[in-house]
Amino acid sequence: MTRNVLQIRDGHGRRASYMRISVTDRCNLRCRYCMPREAEFIPHDKILSYEEIEQLIALSSDLGITKVRLTGGEPFVRRGFTDFLKRVHGNNPGLDLRVTTNGTLLRPLLDEVAAAGVQVLNISLDTLYPGRFQALTGLDAHAEVVGAIDGALAHGLRVKVNVVGLRGVNDDELGSFIRFASERPVDVRFIEFMPMGGCVAWSPEKLWPAEDIIEEAGHHADLEAVARSEGDQGPVRLFRLAGGLGRIGVISPMSNHFCGSCNRLRITSTGKLRTCLYSDREYRLRPILAHPRLSIEAVKQVILRAGRHKPLGYDILNHRLGGAVCSTHMSAIGG
Ligand code: 5AD
Ligand code: SF4
Repeated sequence: MTRNVLQIRDGHGRRASYMRISVTDRCNLRCRYCMPREAEFIPHDKILSYEEIEQLIALSSDLGITKVRLTGGEPFVRRGFTDFLKRVHGNNPGLDLRVTTNGTLLRPLLDEVAAAGVQVLNISLDTLYPGRFQALTGLDAHAEVVGAIDGALAHGLRVKVNVVGLRGVNDDELGSFIRFASERPVDVRFIEFMPMGGCVAWSPEKLWPAEDIIEEAGHHADLEAVARSEGDQGPVRLFRLAGGLGRIGVISPMSNHFCGSCNRLRITSTGKLRTCLYSDREYRLRPILAHPRLSIEAVKQVILRAGRHKPLGYDILNHRLGGAVCSTHMSAIGG
């Protein structure tokens, strides 16, 4: 039987093929730019069950979604996450399955994660100084995260290290991060700080623009731009390091919008579809999934219709200049 794969297309010539799903808003870290120290979490019964997430992944494949990234909060704080990964892989062997994690709980689970068919891990690491790591995140876990990065590489996984670039906070570490990337086959990607709503801890002056990062990086290493066409790059601009094993990259959500080639949809931990990081518009999928008389087809129709209206985020940002990117924590949306 041939499967009838529909496609999620919008009015700007884009096709969505990549779904990011947040499995929890909870996290064992308190990164200053992401969460208040006294974070309030969503009650467990409001969070999608693993069965519901599995249903969403299965029906997404009928809509041409070929890549799924599981995010948080921190996905590994949710009980049963590695078993869930194994089930997802078992039921969708062809799916490009990825995880974004802070890496603090990862090291002992690497055998299972590799066995679960995950091929790429995005691991957040904003500083290479252990003391600063603790000050930024609230946990003394720097060595654990670096160990997880090296362990993941030893397991044959691809690793992308996410660094939120923050002026006056970690902009003195560019040379160290370049050395880190030279010594390992990883992509170290500097992400521009986005002043997300719900978090007032840090202000827009912390923005370290991608152009400045590239220019400053040129003082530390010879950079060779990686051509845009080289596959699955997403919104990152990558550079090889002369004589080094890894690469560095910049992701510039604030200064240089990549909306024109955006192929992603997001599902929040409570089961709301968001078609753009910059827009607060949400489509509640959970009531349809749970409704006794509505079908999987109804969920597909909502996703297709929402996808059709996927906006161009920079239009939204321009209208809201100076304000927050959107009114929700990153940990609830899933980055
Ligand atoms: N701006 C930029 N990046 C952020 N992240 C979390 N909050 C922000 C923010 N306000 C990053 C995390 C992680 C990824 C999922 O998103 O550090 O690397
Ligand atoms: Fe946790 Fe990631 Fe937020 Fe840090 S940025 S508090 S690791 S969800």
